[in-house]
Amino acid sequence: MKKSLAGASVALTLLLSPFQQVFAAESVGELRKFDNVAHRGASGYAPENTIAAFDKAVDMKADYIEIDVQRSKDGKLVVIHDTTVDRTTDGTGAVKDLTFEQLRSLDAGSFKAPEFAGEKIPTFEEVLDRYHGKAGILIELKAPEKYSGIEEEVALQLKARNLDKPQNNKIIIQSFNFDSVKKINTLLPKVPVGVLTSSRAHTTDQALKEFATYADYFNPSYGIVTKELVDKVHGLGMGISSWTVRSPEAAQFLIDMKVDAIITDYPDYVDPRN
Ligand code: G3P
Ligand code: CA
Repeated sequence: MKKSLAGASVALTLLLSPFQQVFAAESVGELRKFDNVAHRGASGYAPENTIAAFDKAVDMKADYIEIDVQRSKDGKLVVIHDTTVDRTTDGTGAVKDLTFEQLRSLDAGSFKAPEFAGEKIPTFEEVLDRYHGKAGILIELKAPEKYSGIEEEVALQLKARNLDKPQNNKIIIQSFNFDSVKKINTLLPKVPVGVLTSSRAHTTDQALKEFATYADYFNPSYGIVTKELVDKVHGLGMGISSWTVRSPEAAQFLIDMKVDAIITDYPDYVDPRN
């Protein structure tokens, strides 16, 4: 297994395997039991997938920021969730049909609140450069079927920064597109990868066993999480990160389920110290 899970930052546990780290963390009351992942940044407080949201997540001491990566018409990797710019910017159109210059000229902050006017759509490169070392980065390949070759391009950017090595345990790549996850796993064999789903059809023993042949994480929406599922996923040697927490109750539910990471718009719901 190549992954690193919650508790990996604790020096005491570094000599242990990833899952020994988790269990060691759970056996020592003061240690963290799960990672706090800021979904599209601290997107409850700042416009999603912008520097403002990622900075806020770092300020709130999130363990990871989660980002959605797509590609402009002229080949630049950009960080935005929807496949169109309509909801989160003052522009219209598909991300893949707009040049980087066009994307960059858009206001990606005002949709959240006037105080964020002027926030830009970030590039993948600038997010890697600005945040690696400050927080983990959970990279989602968003709709990779629209962007032929995006896996190679993401791999290239990580390799250029030496972020493809096993010790770079704070880089994880995930997608709802399982073929894309398999491909990135081949391109970056040392980087942990995860499959995303909100479908119960993907929680059968057979489906989970198939995921475990290449994935390090099984990352379900919290509506399909049960203790039995968490135990099965762990039993197959995978970690489990769940999303999207938007209430303290949902956070508490996932804490009780003993997932390895909680992906949330509100990092303070997961850890009130933040
Ligand atoms: O990280 C999990 C989550 O981001 C998946 O859903 O739609 O918010 O990208 P979505
Ligand atoms: Ca996402």
